[in-house]
Amino acid sequence: MATVHEMDHPLIKHKLSLMRDKTTGVKEFREAASEIAMLMCYEATRDLPLKEITIETPVSEARVQVISGKKIALVPILRAGLGMVEGILEMIPAAKVGHIGLYRNPETLQPIEYYCKLPSDINERDVLLLDPMLATGGSAIAAIDGLKRRGVKHIKLMNLIGAPEGVAAVQKAHPDVEIFVGAIDEKLNDHGYIVPGLGDAGDRIFGTK
Ligand code: URA
Repeated sequence: MATVHEMDHPLIKHKLSLMRDKTTGVKEFREAASEIAMLMCYEATRDLPLKEITIETPVSEARVQVISGKKIALVPILRAGLGMVEGILEMIPAAKVGHIGLYRNPETLQPIEYYCKLPSDINERDVLLLDPMLATGGSAIAAIDGLKRRGVKHIKLMNLIGAPEGVAAVQKAHPDVEIFVGAIDEKLNDHGYIVPGLGDAGDRIFGTK
């Protein structure tokens, strides 16, 4: 079963509360999404391999540890996932960025990929898949299917808020994918919104309400 890491940090809780508040404006909402993604990146990269090198400090020679050239790609699911990219790039500036776009077939309700542009060496990269809201899990599962079809072997899913239903669905469909989630909320409502959630993340990030 895929490991689920629910964040337990005062800064993340505080910034999530700001995002949940319906009176929070676009600027603050966008900044908080980016900052939470940055903080979550700390947890999601905890297992990056290190190597030892020798350097000279002003005082002496020292053996120190640096990240050993792991190749990472960020893949936001369009469009709300874009709101998490900038914060993570602050921490991993050398990461490449791919994009996946999905829409829901109105008859089958199945997510269909309408756009996919990934770095050409995506099969050699570890992917951080980004989507602020993990609702039913349908989009995340379809995006993971798409990445695996293209040869990606290591995927971590990062969400700001998840519904228990979505977390369980991803765990069942892709038990190898670790999930990093800011908070797991109560449930989904009949309209597919997370309760209490924060509303439509894409609309609130881009001010399109
Ligand atoms: N997508 C959103 O933006 N919000 C939800 O609550 C569920 C899906």
